[in-house]
Amino acid sequence: MDESEREAAKRRAGESAAATVADGSAVGLGSGSTAAHAVRALGREVDDGLDVEGVPTSFQAREVAIEAGVPLTTLDETGGRVDVAIDGADQFADGDLVKGGGGAHAREKVVDTAADRFVVVADPTKEADALAHPVPVEVLPDARTTVARAVTELGGDPQLRRADHKSGPVVTDNGSLVLDCAFGPVADPTGLAADLAGLAGVVEHGLFVGVADAIHVGTENGVTVVEP
Ligand code: A5P
Repeated sequence: MDESEREAAKRRAGESAAATVADGSAVGLGSGSTAAHAVRALGREVDDGLDVEGVPTSFQAREVAIEAGVPLTTLDETGGRVDVAIDGADQFADGDLVKGGGGAHAREKVVDTAADRFVVVADPTKEADALAHPVPVEVLPDARTTVARAVTELGGDPQLRRADHKSGPVVTDNGSLVLDCAFGPVADPTGLAADLAGLAGVVEHGLFVGVADAIHVGTENGVTVVEP
């Protein structure tokens, strides 16, 4: 699958997930390039009369939604829930996900787990037999060394995520840092998720275990829907 075929697959996945959104819904708006296709598709449906409000999961998702004309709200205004969330993934295996390639996984987890239905959108390159993508771990700046040390003791290799057009680290929408932690294939995602969540100074990690209700995978000529 070349880059343009992959982009088309992402668009099909996003449009397929957007088509499942019912009139009157509060919708979690995911981050990343695949979720952006869903947000743009929702914007077109809003132009055609669909009544929805979106809860963005990041600065980027908010920008895409504004550009697409999707009205925005907050979890405070929806009472801490949304009807459906649509979000991307860096990798999926057996219904579990690694997220956080864009450093947005903390807010994504808040919104995605507040959804009655969490729909993942992906292209086929994201599927794996076991989760092996480095796990992004968002940390308070003061905790980066202690968390890195603990991750090493858990068998991981933590690397501070560095910025492209700034000296020093990526700083998240929450003012935190990100450690990308390579563990190799993760045999027990539930156990690793609990271990990472238990470390002092961890804001959120990018393992999303047992929370996806459906995964829309764009293919070369259609969409496959997996329901874990
Ligand atoms: C953002 O932090 C991520 O969780 C994204 O949802 C994830 O990286 C997928 O992004 P793409 O759809 O751009 O691959």
